[in-house]
Amino acid sequence: EANGMEFAVADLSLAEFGRDEIRLAEHEMPGLMAIRREYAEAKPLRGARIAGSLHMTVQTAVLIETLVELGAEVRWVSCNIFSTQDHAAAAVVVGKNGTPDAPAGVPVFAWKGETLEEYWWCTNHLFNFHDADGNVVGPNMILDDGGDATLLVHKGVEFEKAGAVPQADENDPDEYRVILETLRGSLAADANRFTRIAAGIRGVTEETTTGVHRLYELAKTGDLLFPAINVNDSVTKSKFDNKYGCRHSLIDGINRATDVLIGGKTAVVCGFGDVGKGCAESLRGQGARVIVTEIDPICALQAAMEGYQVAPLDDVVEQADIVITATGNKDVVTAQHMLRMKHQAIVGNIGHFDNEIDMAGLARVPGITRKEIKPQVHEWVRPDGRSIIVLSEGRLLNLGNATGHPSFVMSNSFANQTIAQIELFTKHDEYDNQVYVLPKHLDEKVARLHLDALGAKLTKLTKDQAEYIGVDVDGPYKPDHYRY
Ligand code: NAI
Repeated sequence: EANGMEFAVADLSLAEFGRDEIRLAEHEMPGLMAIRREYAEAKPLRGARIAGSLHMTVQTAVLIETLVELGAEVRWVSCNIFSTQDHAAAAVVVGKNGTPDAPAGVPVFAWKGETLEEYWWCTNHLFNFHDADGNVVGPNMILDDGGDATLLVHKGVEFEKAGAVPQADENDPDEYRVILETLRGSLAADANRFTRIAAGIRGVTEETTTGVHRLYELAKTGDLLFPAINVNDSVTKSKFDNKYGCRHSLIDGINRATDVLIGGKTAVVCGFGDVGKGCAESLRGQGARVIVTEIDPICALQAAMEGYQVAPLDDVVEQADIVITATGNKDVVTAQHMLRMKHQAIVGNIGHFDNEIDMAGLARVPGITRKEIKPQVHEWVRPDGRSIIVLSEGRLLNLGNATGHPSFVMSNSFANQTIAQIELFTKHDEYDNQVYVLPKHLDEKVARLHLDALGAKLTKLTKDQAEYIGVDVDGPYKPDHYRY
């Protein structure tokens, strides 16, 4: 705590570096900056207390400061133990008008290289806003990426209703044990904390495929406690961030981690959804021969049409120099696969959670040893003396080994986030406890905000043409079922 503000970051002296990079990023985020200008007077988020759980990067700093400029009070954590950029976190805490000795920005609880215990401590702490008298009050909005903040609230309410937190059983992953421990502490201190927090929340806006999947599951069983906007499925999010963002940041991560020449190598990309499409393109762009694995015949056919070989991992694992998972599924690369790989094959995941690659199974292989080459790069030496190189311990490597997606693409994602926050905060009465996507005219608006910066000039429909194709001159230009 300093200057009356709580926070937990690595090093406030990094703030100036962070501020410089935030300033450069602002120029590359025209969508967010246009939204700041549009709402400068109205301040539609005045009164909002936003609990944000999303990779604490330079780009996220621009999002946070946009929410603040729109009137919100904000607290922030990262949604991954390795994804924080410490200089960005420091700059957000210090704020534009503060100094490291007298920080005046936003409370952030995030640093690169948290333990799981620290990660869930931060997430638990995220909900403790303070009112004018210094009393702890809950947030009234969540901004989530992957759904961990939403999960903690839902689990908390579930256990408060039951009056006890269950013991983890031996099949539960370690992480679940930590979540239960966190909730046990909360319940012991205050038996209704999460019930109160949930009652105060107007809605959540969710960033990614995996988090959205969790929300639809909750809605299906009637367990979703507040309305949700699925930001991921705005076209200007998943068809840009997931694809072009990963096209940029996948190879950035591989390069910074290993500096291995990608050209001429054989790379396997598991999953050919939006993320997989971007990954495959970037590896091919570097001259790799790319093999795609898929379970969905449509995506498999798309990969084949793009000229990629399509095969199960089992059939090609010995050929691979690089294996990347991009499925959002679990157990995609097993310990058995990793034992069969070439010497010094590189294994990494770009999907949201770390269960795509069976790291626990790898650690259990008799005689295997692990050497840290540098943070987030580990050489696993197998009993036969050959090794593989695992990036970011199986967690998303573009944020663990590099700095995630670049600003311009995140401007699209975060413009959607900001619009979704305004929508749910100001019109929550119009929404049920279901999952919604933003209407198409707002999706088109986000795209429009980014055209000028690239010198892209739209063709204008004539009234006659608009009537002929059955749309309004000002859009929306496509029906909701159009796939882009
Ligand atoms: P998606 O649903 O479009 O694609 C996933 C693909 O994997 C699907 O086509 C599915 O058929 C395929 N798949 C599922 N199980 C498989 C298996 N066992 N073997 C091979 N293929 C399999 O999802 P999207 O948007 O591409 O996201 C994938 C993951 O990446 C999610 O966890 C998402 O949250 C995450 N993500 C990560 C980002 C990052 O910066 N690291 C950015 C955006 C999303």
